[in-house]
Amino acid sequence: MIQRVDNYEEMSRIAAKLFQVAIQKQPGLVLGLATGTTPIGLYDNLVELYRARELDFHFVRTVNLDEYVGLTAAHVQSYRYFMNTHLFDRVNIQRDNTHLPDGMAPDLAVECKRYDEMVDSLGGIDLQLLGIGRNGHIGFNEPADVFSTGTVAVDLTDDTIDANARLFANAGEVPKKAISMGIKTIMLAKKVVLLATADKKDIVEKAFLGPITPRVPASILQAHQNVTVLLAKE
Ligand code: PGA
Repeated sequence: MIQRVDNYEEMSRIAAKLFQVAIQKQPGLVLGLATGTTPIGLYDNLVELYRARELDFHFVRTVNLDEYVGLTAAHVQSYRYFMNTHLFDRVNIQRDNTHLPDGMAPDLAVECKRYDEMVDSLGGIDLQLLGIGRNGHIGFNEPADVFSTGTVAVDLTDDTIDANARLFANAGEVPKKAISMGIKTIMLAKKVVLLATADKKDIVEKAFLGPITPRVPASILQAHQNVTVLLAKE
């Protein structure tokens, strides 16, 4: 399940190839997408393939894992902004086919329900991209006593706030809450690709070689039938 690859560039290239093959086979597939530092190289590779006319996003539909609560789409740290700048603005995807939770929704419970219904209406996720937090989170499903099911509004752990503070002026500016797709939705994806840089080696091994526990949310992926983990050696 864990495929060790030489470095970040190789990880990004192999992942892009997986995405390319999947899109070519099923041009209207539903991609589950992730933000963070890890997938940037993959997105750059996908943009290159698009520019070389080797990839067409016209029919592709996307649903993202999560969004911070309280940040507008125009905020540079919002995940909508991230996705627009790293991928959507650079390829021929139709903006109406791209979906993220709305972090500005007045009622978070209503927004979570809407998001689940939207994913269902697309027929679920064909190919889900994941990163992994250093505490083992996937999406913003933080370590907990039970696995989440559908989309949830979550309180971010201090560890996650600390990990993401590097992208904000200071830790105090990192939102304390986020909306995250739930574990069940992720587990229902037909295929999952998890990318991890070398600094995540220990948590990847804990998640995939240790016991399945909601204390390490990614460990549930051991129960998924079709997961590829690309772990960079350096
Ligand atoms: P990172 O985030 O790619 O920025 O390390 C991964 C995650 O927290 O899921």
